[in-house]
Amino acid sequence: MNYDIKDINFAEQGKQRMEWAARFMPVLADIKNRFKKEKPLKGLRISACLHVTSETANLMETIKEGGARVTLTASNPLSTQDDIAAALVKFHEIPVFSINGEDNETYYRHINQALDNKPHITMDDGADLVSTIHSQRKELLKDIIGGTEETTTGVIRLKSMAAQKVLNYPIIAVNDANTKHLFDNRYGTGQSTIDGILRSTNILLAGTNFVVSGYGWCGRGVATRARGAGAKVIICEVDPLRALEAVMDGFQVMPLIKASEIGDIFVTVTGDKNVISEEHFNKMKDGAIVANAGHFNVEIDIPALNKISKEKRNIKKLVEEFTLGNGRKIFLLAEGRLLNLSAAEGHPASVMDMSFANQALSVVYLSEEGKGLMKKVYPVPKEIDEDIALRKLRSMNIQIDSLTEEQKSYLAGWEEGT
Ligand code: ADE
Repeated sequence: MNYDIKDINFAEQGKQRMEWAARFMPVLADIKNRFKKEKPLKGLRISACLHVTSETANLMETIKEGGARVTLTASNPLSTQDDIAAALVKFHEIPVFSINGEDNETYYRHINQALDNKPHITMDDGADLVSTIHSQRKELLKDIIGGTEETTTGVIRLKSMAAQKVLNYPIIAVNDANTKHLFDNRYGTGQSTIDGILRSTNILLAGTNFVVSGYGWCGRGVATRARGAGAKVIICEVDPLRALEAVMDGFQVMPLIKASEIGDIFVTVTGDKNVISEEHFNKMKDGAIVANAGHFNVEIDIPALNKISKEKRNIKKLVEEFTLGNGRKIFLLAEGRLLNLSAAEGHPASVMDMSFANQALSVVYLSEEGKGLMKKVYPVPKEIDEDIALRKLRSMNIQIDSLTEEQKSYLAGWEEGT
């Protein structure tokens, strides 16, 4: 079996961490048990480009139990958990191509090695498989039925490909399922981003001015958790509706250039590029900490930071100190790469349970219906989304009410008023 990982000797530790994550993934476990019996993915080749974590490992095991031949590569050079990569190779015979800290060239070599599997279905987190296939591996298109996409940034890229009519196969936007973004993006990113800040810096959040740029589902999560830790949270937004929501959620809202003067910690979660740029760095206080929780490392203009700095040194793991021409110091976390996965372990398994249940069931849906779909981005079917919510509640031993027949017909009619 061909694979490229850091060290196979890490496998035992990886196995134990996979088991720990599995304890919090009951919905995925149900699906795995069903896959074991029914083998709905028999004969399919699947290539996945996802963060190589203990949660992803449980998804890969599930997909393999479904009968597919799966390969895995990382969706970010800094997020790979090397022990998990080793456990997948050693105990599950899944070819993994990823090493934490790999350079860009290796990152793309690994993507290509995962694609040598000649997939029928691709699973992406950020659309790097789709974009590599469309730009360099067009010969693979003939076998591909469809793909899934895990994250907001990837869905935006793919929708733009579809709008330009260059997307060559259907994609299921897992990110857009309610049981994904309302939980993973909000509670997952919220908690794991704070986790990344604390693990890399060990600073006290209480009393700090904590600036969050972007008030989408991820930004809301980060802001809420920072407030919970006692920080004074400032939101910067470009969308008036979201800005208004932030105001009424009780946050201060102001332009980033103004927030730059008072912020102690800055977190970008916008999905766009050069959000924090030279003009902002120049206004920042001595000691400001800057981090990114968006998918790509483009949100902080690091070339500009380098340009205006007279000195740069590594202070501790994942903390870089930049001394500006004006003498002030700015600290950049995790090279501006998504902090929750590079400085912490990513979202907790309990939310990834729902995200990855959506992934597994969307793959089955593609295998059954993919050939009839157009070359567009589709939502996860509503029945799958609702079924996951119900199963998650059940796993938490929570029962809910249901409508009476009378209530159903009241909602379905229009004649009855006061
Ligand atoms: N994205 C965010 N957190 C993750 C995790 N724990 N595993 C895989 N992908 C993730």
